[in-house]
Amino acid sequence: MSSSLPIGIFDSGIGGLTVANAIRKILPNEQLIYFGDTVHMPYGDKSPEAVKFYSLKIAKFLLDKKCKVIVIACNTASAHAYHELVHFLGDQVPIINVIDPVVNLMVRKGNDKKIGVIGTKSTIRSDIYARKFKAANPKIEVSSLATPLLAPMIEEGFFNNNISKTVINSYLSSSKLKKINSLILACTHYPLIKDEISKFYNGSVNILNTAEIVAQHVEDRLRDLKLLNEGPGKRHQFFVSDYTPSFEKSTKLFFGEKINLTREAIWD
Ligand code: DGL
Repeated sequence: MSSSLPIGIFDSGIGGLTVANAIRKILPNEQLIYFGDTVHMPYGDKSPEAVKFYSLKIAKFLLDKKCKVIVIACNTASAHAYHELVHFLGDQVPIINVIDPVVNLMVRKGNDKKIGVIGTKSTIRSDIYARKFKAANPKIEVSSLATPLLAPMIEEGFFNNNISKTVINSYLSSSKLKKINSLILACTHYPLIKDEISKFYNGSVNILNTAEIVAQHVEDRLRDLKLLNEGPGKRHQFFVSDYTPSFEKSTKLFFGEKINLTREAIWD
């Protein structure tokens, strides 16, 4: 496989652009091909079967684009579809989810007694973080809370204001998140409200920027596979299954700059 091939990244919508942004920052020579399944967003309210079905179809699309690695930039799809994708892709391309790099790093550091997790209803219902931590170190306690209002709130541009402060404070005051050492932002939308969450805890809780941890893992994995691109990469490409100007406008929030979205009708 050639190291100049692109990195494929997908999410239910444009939230996974936070992961794409973190990857492009540490791997500026890599070409990214991003797919946001805006037809089916939000995945957080869908059944595991539906999320598996969507994820397989998107993986086929990224495979057709000759991606050298596929990153599932969505916790919900990572929770429900990772194993199916590994099975489907076999040894064609490596696949990276957004959960294992975070769990492995925290277990390795060994600083935590009680970890809080916030994410979509579907991610929290899967109990994936608690199961993974328990398998790695049963002494770590994990307490998870579904925070379904946060992703739509962020997508509508409501952050760093009084409304977001009220919603965030209300969720984080839950008894489930009492006495945690660290909080995992288990949704790729949440890096945008990391500062507000930090303010709530006033430095007493370690808030994990999962996008940066995943980006670092992508770099390590590509290096191990000798697939890091040395020369300048080609232009990034951004596809969505449903296009609206408002999605395009919101890309700036997640990617740091406005980008052009191309509709790719994989569901027609
Ligand atoms: N980006 C998705 C995740 O990380 C959340 C948004 C959705 O529900 O589709 O879980």
